[in-house]
Amino acid sequence: MFIAGATGYTGREVVRECVARGLETVAHVRPDSSRLDHWRKHFGAVGARVDTTAWRLDEIGATLARLQPSQVHALLGTTRKRGSGSGSGSAVVDTYEAVDYGLSIMLLEAALACGSNPRFVYLSALGADGRAVNAYMGVRKRVEAAIRGSGLPYLVARPGFITGDDRDETRAAERIASVVGDGLLGLLGALGAKRTQARYSSLTGAQLGAAIVELACEAREHAVLAETEQLRACVS
Ligand SMILES: NC(=O)c1ccc[n+]([C@@H]2O[C@H](COP(=O)([O-])OP(=O)(O)OC[C@H]3O[C@@H](n4cnc5c(N)ncnc54)[C@H](OP(=O)(O)O)[C@@H]3O)[C@@H](O)[C@H]2O)c1
Repeated sequence: MFIAGATGYTGREVVRECVARGLETVAHVRPDSSRLDHWRKHFGAVGARVDTTAWRLDEIGATLARLQPSQVHALLGTTRKRGSGSGSGSAVVDTYEAVDYGLSIMLLEAALACGSNPRFVYLSALGADGRAVNAYMGVRKRVEAAIRGSGLPYLVARPGFITGDDRDETRAAERIASVVGDGLLGLLGALGAKRTQARYSSLTGAQLGAAIVELACEAREHAVLAETEQLRACVS
């Protein structure tokens, strides 16, 4: 398993789930991460290997060709705050185009060329199949189309909000929106709109991570697409 975005709220849970299943798991951490020591300790304690290959197609390609993974996970994305200039000091410009599209597509190309025909696991977002209402959704729509056209087996996960009490504050806007949204959905659910509640309510990183690994490991179909309802069903 090669997990890009391993340091994220969802990614770290995917790493934990893969290790818990006894799978050989490589957690990718960007080499310029200001928290590299922290992540080395964290993933070491979890039981995963850390890889710090630079985000360049030739280098990521060489790493995947060496590892021959059965799954390659693209679980990364920047935030609007970073993209607006309050940057992270990253070697990659923090825009949706450079990170959410550019790095996901780089990983897809490397996965395609690596020779092990891995399942490509992509963390998209609910609504990515609709009209691209903003840059964030537009990027997800284009990445999904590239995955479908790649010929690789894939899992595309489309959750609504991913949040929980254990979420740090880098995505504070999503956290606030999800708390308000879950409250309203709870009300709707109590009034009988269970389907709406199931479709839009938030998932925690742990729930989503467990669902992604379950679906990616158990799927026999070439193409798997899972939205909130199916993802939640895997873990309840
Ligand atoms: N949060 C939500 O409610 C929600 C809902 C649906 C879909 N999504 C999408 O799901 C994906 C993962 O979400 P999440 O909440 O688990 O993410 P997260 O906690 O914000 O983690 C983002 C990951 O992307 C990496 N990353 C960000 N900028 C980077 C850059 N410039 N270069 C290299 N790596 C970079 C981060 O690495 P560092 O730790 O090194 O920064 C981290 O591993 C994202 O694409 C997100 O948009 C999110």
